[in-house]
Amino acid sequence: MSQNQLDKKSQAWSALFSEPMSDLVKRYTSSVFFDKRLWQADISGSLAHAEMLAAQGIISDADLAAILNGMATLRKEIETGTFEWKLDLEDVHLNIEARLTQLVGDAGKRLHTGRSRNDQVATDVRLWLRGEIDLIEALLVDLQKALVDVAEKHVNVILPGFTHLQVAQPVSFGHHLLAYVEMFSRDSERMAEVRSRVNRLPLGAAALAGTSYPLDRQRVARTLGMVDAAGAPQVCQNSLDAVSDRDFAIEFTAAASLCMVHISRLSEELVLWMSQNFGFVKIADRFTTGSSIMPQKKNPDVPELARGKTGRVVGHLMGLITLMKGQPLAYNKDNQEDKEPLFDTVDTLKDTLRIFSEMIGGQRNPATGQKEGGISVNAQAMEQAALRGYATATDLADYLVKKGLPFRDAHETVAHAVKAAIAHQVDLSELPLAVLQGFNASIGSDVFDALSLRGSLNARNTLGGTAPQQVLQQIARHRARLGA
Ligand code: ARG
Repeated sequence: MSQNQLDKKSQAWSALFSEPMSDLVKRYTSSVFFDKRLWQADISGSLAHAEMLAAQGIISDADLAAILNGMATLRKEIETGTFEWKLDLEDVHLNIEARLTQLVGDAGKRLHTGRSRNDQVATDVRLWLRGEIDLIEALLVDLQKALVDVAEKHVNVILPGFTHLQVAQPVSFGHHLLAYVEMFSRDSERMAEVRSRVNRLPLGAAALAGTSYPLDRQRVARTLGMVDAAGAPQVCQNSLDAVSDRDFAIEFTAAASLCMVHISRLSEELVLWMSQNFGFVKIADRFTTGSSIMPQKKNPDVPELARGKTGRVVGHLMGLITLMKGQPLAYNKDNQEDKEPLFDTVDTLKDTLRIFSEMIGGQRNPATGQKEGGISVNAQAMEQAALRGYATATDLADYLVKKGLPFRDAHETVAHAVKAAIAHQVDLSELPLAVLQGFNASIGSDVFDALSLRGSLNARNTLGGTAPQQVLQQIARHRARLGA
């Protein structure tokens, strides 16, 4: 667009329009103030397109050189903050193209040959999201490493394992943390799968039907790194689908939602564990806040907010999926509404992962190279809580099974023993041998090994179990997988 045409555009779209847009409609329809964050992807996409147009003889080499020069200038303007984003120019694409044309004239006007904003925006969002997924993958690795480090320090710390939030059986605190490592490793796998479908090229679909110019879409895909593991270009194969598909955004937000759900479950545990009634862990003061009225309070704001922000991300998933449900093929302006939920999902997830890595694992002190200020664990409180809940009752039943009792009978016998222990307000291991023998004569003094928390832990020495030996093996596996 020439300056003259640009000025005209701020009045009305083209000669076809008899009146300009009202200010309200301009504001309502424009996206530039949020989609300008796609500017790098927009420039990369344009450069790959221009390079291919020149290679195919659709534009001249001189035009390509002018476009490259103009884009270099424009890039600097954006980086240094001198670029003037204009609401009148609606979105990031028109803003960049108009400025390019101001800078290089007709060559800028040739850039849009064989292209539409419909395939352009789909390409930009995919390129941008691909980069963000790579950052998220790295953050997921950091969080897993932080959890593995804390797990390793606490392999032998005993936590009451809960079912129904009732004390169930003793577990290693390290084992408990590794459960979250499993969740985040699946999140990481999911992100990688989503990335492979994000990394496909819509450009070349033009408005909806393809284009009459002899484009080389594979070449553009290769230039943009939209290739599979074997290096083959990944190009959207149906022009109508290429411009209208937002599955990739929905899939990403679904994967992000699930990751936030894992964070939220961990948050809920942290909140519980930090309450005075549990007193199992502390997080560093910088992740907590005080109360304006109750001076004794240290509230776990960060985990609570993460739990709250999970609702927000799941809301974005609902928003995006609903955005698509009524749209006929192909592109509709509805699709402009994909950006804010997607951007906010990415921002929320990245910040949350970062803050959790630091809150769990601490920060590296550059002087010592050691991490400091992660969660601190009150091993004694955990162990005391496990002792209060008859966590080794199953072990007594298993002991009786080894002595020949059928499991159901053993279960019933132990129920009587627990009832007696409750009446005396002691743990099973504190009942005298003679009393225990009153429930079953085959009980010998070796029963106290089985009844101890540590004995119970060590006994669960099967793959995936909580015995410290198993937990150490899992830590080694995770370290090898994470390169840590
Ligand atoms: N800003 C638009 C979006 O985000 C770009 C595509 C506009 N295409 C159109 N035909 N109006 O989707």
